[in-house]
Parts: sequence; structure tokens; C-alpha cells
Amino acid sequence: MLKRIEMIAIYSAALLVAGAFSAGDASGLSLFNSRNLERWLPEEFAAIMSLRLNQLPAAPADPSNAVENSAAAIELGRRLFADARLSSNSMVSCASCHDPAKQFQDDRPVGQGVGTGGRRSMPIVGLGHSPWLFWDGRKDSAWSQAVGPLEDAVEHGGNRMAYAHQIAAHYRSEYVALFGPLPDLGSLPANASPAGTAVEQIAWQSMDATSRDNVSRIYANMGKAIAAFEKTLRHSPSRLDRYLDAVSKGNSTPQTILSPQEINGLRLFVGKGQCISCHNGPLLTDQQFHNTGVPPRDSMKPDRGRAAAVPKVLQDEFNCLGRYSDAKPEQCNELRFIATNDPHMEGAFKTPGLRGVSLRPPYMHAGQIATLEDVVRHYVNAPHAALGHSELSHLHPEKKPTGKEHLERQPIVLSEAEQRDLVSFLGTLH
Ligand code: HEC
Ligand code: HEC
Repeated sequence: MLKRIEMIAIYSAALLVAGAFSAGDASGLSLFNSRNLERWLPEEFAAIMSLRLNQLPAAPADPSNAVENSAAAIELGRRLFADARLSSNSMVSCASCHDPAKQFQDDRPVGQGVGTGGRRSMPIVGLGHSPWLFWDGRKDSAWSQAVGPLEDAVEHGGNRMAYAHQIAAHYRSEYVALFGPLPDLGSLPANASPAGTAVEQIAWQSMDATSRDNVSRIYANMGKAIAAFEKTLRHSPSRLDRYLDAVSKGNSTPQTILSPQEINGLRLFVGKGQCISCHNGPLLTDQQFHNTGVPPRDSMKPDRGRAAAVPKVLQDEFNCLGRYSDAKPEQCNELRFIATNDPHMEGAFKTPGLRGVSLRPPYMHAGQIATLEDVVRHYVNAPHAALGHSELSHLHPEKKPTGKEHLERQPIVLSEAEQRDLVSFLGTLH
């Protein structure tokens, strides 16, 4: 029913535009009538249709989080996400850096919490589709991700013992209803953590093993509630989706939704620009890690990205195979079969989804690139990687057979006008 109303809306918009053109602008009319723009080759048609939001399957279940579908967990998570008491200065919440009014990110080049971080805050809508979290994928679930920033020295700056006391003070009944009775925390220190300051670590060591386990479990459960909330966040259809919907229905006037320049940009995105080889599917990401030669923020501190993250996720006490996970070991295949020692992971970062991208500069894992014009130029200018080998580098000085030839890409060659078209297309994704 809704779809029909949408079609009527598109149709009347088309009539309006047609009217405007015939009233004055003769050249506009001929452009409007041109069928050329809508002629998609079969392989192009399949590619553009694969980007539609309605092709997105439901996010897979996370067997390591038993409460992810619980309404009570979602509600508790929603409140924890916005609670600035959960920080060392009572001023930082998840929402400080993941602002719901800004696609759950913060428009800054690098995160700003109780201190300044080294990477850009990521928009978190659609995270349930991502097997690995963070730019380098050093977490294997949304709940184990959520406990990271809470103890990060420059983000929330707090410690799990203090958070357990906060849960007991402010969220006791909600917590107990979901996870069962809270242990008695009365005799435990105010601040303690295995990951905190030297003083906090000493306090943590002074606690007995059962108390440490109890506190870590409360901490993991906070993560599980937050993850349940995050998983409810969904994208709304974009202008591109409305256009593709019209094209798929054979509607004769989809140009009223995208401009000729935007349509040409779409054609380049799925064709000559090769963007779709990594930015694919309804979220415009392959969820994989690639080295695209983005220069580090600080050349003295190159960021190894995925290569350094693999050992971290394997050792993480909150991973899918750990004691706080609700999964059976055989449900942790991503972790069990993780690629170790893959040289292509040196300097590689997760392909970001591109929905809403034009509204959230700056770009890349540490906000290194200010505008979309410069992002597209980066792809055309054959970047060399600071670390490892960029998949996009045009130069292959010694061409020894590596067995990975299929990973090598053709150079991305685009004229100035084509680059502008591609940028204008990126503005249709919200
Ligand atoms: C100080 C700013 C800051 C705060 C506070 C913060 N984050 Fe983040 N968030 C970031 C940054 C920066 C990254 C990327 C870090 C990296 O890759 O190393 C990130 C990444 C993420 C991701 C990964 C998304 C993906 O697609 O991989 C999720 C999910 C997330 N944050 C959720 C949270 C939650 C939940 C909280 C609160 C418990 C939180 N963040 C608190 C800055 C922040
Ligand atoms: C080899 C895979 C690959 C190809 C091909 C590719 N990208 Fe990317 N893209 C990435 C990765 C990985 C990042 C993040 C890199 C980083 O931060 O170091 C990225 C980042 C971006 C960003 C920044 C988004 C953000 O939130 O920071 C935009 C915009 C973008 N790409 C657009 C494009 C366009 C347009 C093309 C085609 C010309 C393209 N990409 C081709 C993998 C790719």
C-alpha cells in the first residue's frame, strides 16, 4: 500500500518537473526526454539493484549475546549508551562520540573523550552486519566492542569496578530482571580493573578470583545490553533507494529523483571507478579489510590496522570463545578461522559503509581526508602505502608471481568531470 503511494508521489513529482521544463527551458526538456540515461546494461542493472536497502537481509544472530533480542535489554542499553556517569569525569557517554543527530558519529577527525584518540569515531548504524568491529576489527562482537571504550584511557576513562557500583546504584532492578541477582559489592574497592591505571591494577590484583569474575561478568552484561540497543539502529531509505525502486519498476521518470550527473556517478561507481569491488551490497561495504594507501595522521606513528588487531582479538577475554560469551565454541567460526599472518592485512582498515557519507566529513580511519573530492582524488592518484602494500597502487616494480594476482586491481582512471560525477553520486546516499 505504502509502495503505491510512493509511486504516485514519484509520478506527480515527475509531472511537476515536466511542467516546469515545458514552460520554459527547452534544453532541459530534451535532457528530460532522453532515455539514454536510463539504459543500463544487464550487468550494470544487477550491480545497481544489489545496492538497494530492501536487499539487506536481517542481521545475523549473535550467539555470544543471549539477551540481544530482549526488549528489556534494548531499553537498558539505550539508557547506558547515553549515561555520562559512566566515565571518569562524568561528562562522557557513548553518545558524546556517537551522536544520534549525526548518524551516531561526531564529525571530528579523531575521537574526543576524556582525552584525544588516534582514530575517527565510526557511525554505528547497521553494525549487526559486521563480523569485526572497529576500523581494525579487533573485536568480534558488538557487546565485546562496547566494553572497550568504557575502560579506554582517552574515551570514558573509567574502570569496570566503578561501573559495577554504578549499576548497583542506578540500574539494580533492571539489571537483576535481565541477568539475575547482583553479587554483594559492599566490601570491594571503589576503583579497580586489570586494564586501568597502575593503582587500579593493584586494587584488581588484591581482589579474590570470584569477585574479579563477578565484576567482569557485570561489565560484560553492560556490553550485552548496549549491543542489544545498537542492533536496533537502522538506515532509512536514501534518494538512491527511491531512484532504484523507480528503475526496478520500469517507471519512466526516475531522472526526477537523481540528476543526470548523479546517475552518471552511479554508473562510474559500479563500473569504471571499481568502487563497488569493495563498497558493495546495501550498506556499500564488503566488511573486509583493505590497504588503500591512506597516509597515517602522524608519519612517525604509522598504524598497522588489521595486522596488529588479529592477535588482540584472539587474546581478548571478552571474545566469542571466552568465559563471558554465551556461544558454544562451534558457533565462533569467524574467530576460530581468522586469517593470521596475511601480509595483505598490514596497514589494512575496514571498508566503511557509505550510506549518509556526504553528511559526515572528514573521512578515513583518522579523518585524514577533508572532503569527498579529495577522497576520490586519492583513489585516482595511485597512492603508495606507508605500511604494507596498497591494493590500489598502480606501480608493481617487481612482478614476481605471488598467487594473489587476482587481488591486484586495474588503476582507477577517471577524468576531472568523472570525479565530480562520482562525488555528486555520493550525495544520493541519504
Ligand atoms: C571518545 C569518543 C568515543 C566514545 C566515548 C565512544 N566511542 Fe565508539 N568509537 C570511537 C572511535 C574513535 C572508534 C574507532 C576506534 C578504532 O577503530 O580504534 C569507535 C568505534 C566504535 C564502534 C565500531 C563500529 C564499527 O563499525 O566497527 C562501535 C560499535 C562503537 N564505537 C560503539 C561505542 C559504544 C557502545 C560506546 C560507549 C560504551 C562508545 N562507542 C564510546 C569513539 C568513541
Ligand atoms: C580496495 C577496496 C576499495 C576500493 C576499490 C574503494 N574503496 Fe573506498 N574505502 C576502502 C577502505 C578500506 C576505506 C577506509 C580506508 C582507511 O580509512 O584507511 C575506504 C574509504 C572510503 C571513503 C571514506 C568513508 C568514510 O567514512 O571515511 C569513501 C567516501 C570511499 N572510500 C569511496 C570510494 C569510492 C568513490 C571508490 C571508487 C572510486 C572507492 N571508495 C574504492 C576500500 C575501497
